[in-house]
Amino acid sequence: MDKKRIIIAIDGHSSCGKSTFAKAIAARLGYIFIDTGAMYRAVTLYALENGAIVNGIVDEERVEAMLGDIDIDFRFNAERGASDIYVNGDLVEGKIRTIEVSNCVSPVSSIGAVRHKLVAIQQQMGRKGGVVMDGRDIGTVVFPDAELKIYMTADAMVRAERRFKELTAKGDNVTLEQIYDNVVSRDKADMTRAISPLRKAEDAIVLDNSHMSVEEQMTWFDEQYRRVMEA
Ligand code: DC
Repeated sequence: MDKKRIIIAIDGHSSCGKSTFAKAIAARLGYIFIDTGAMYRAVTLYALENGAIVNGIVDEERVEAMLGDIDIDFRFNAERGASDIYVNGDLVEGKIRTIEVSNCVSPVSSIGAVRHKLVAIQQQMGRKGGVVMDGRDIGTVVFPDAELKIYMTADAMVRAERRFKELTAKGDNVTLEQIYDNVVSRDKADMTRAISPLRKAEDAIVLDNSHMSVEEQMTWFDEQYRRVMEA
């Protein structure tokens, strides 16, 4: 008999390697990986490029009004082994991870209409199972019945150092201090916003990967997955 294809919900803090972990799990299981943070980033990029964010100030009404014009889809990129995100047919994967987008994504993701639209798309994408979805509210709001929920975290400075390395390797001109401030302020914004704040679902298992390699995290995951599938 074919193995049951479950929903794996991964929530947690910014920059703690959720996507790397989720992508590796999806590849291992032959599941689809969905990076929901990319969707909030894509809306933020669109708002920046279309005048709804000026000098870092988000005009919520304008963002809401433009939601109907934003069509988001993912297309698998075999080279990356993951899906790229497109907005209205344009590939935006490379443009959504700048510090400018990172600095504006928290206020955009706290707008109710934005969450409403993106959560509906996420639920549609995951309805058949066989998905690993990472975000902030997957185990609490998007798929409260997910069979396996993981809550990831890591020390804030460890996370800032990881992201700093990533961005400087791409040639971005940023300081570790800027990144650290962004990580800390996004944690605060994500955990204190009124709608769907980041919190651990009661039935989620915690993975603190501050001092763990990706291989160690995979070994840990295999154990959790086996437990769920045998239950
Ligand atoms: O995972 P990330 O850092 O790329 O996510 C970008 C932002 O989007 C993050 O600051 C919070 C928000 N987000 C959210 O509110 N809900 C999600 N399911 C995923 C991301």
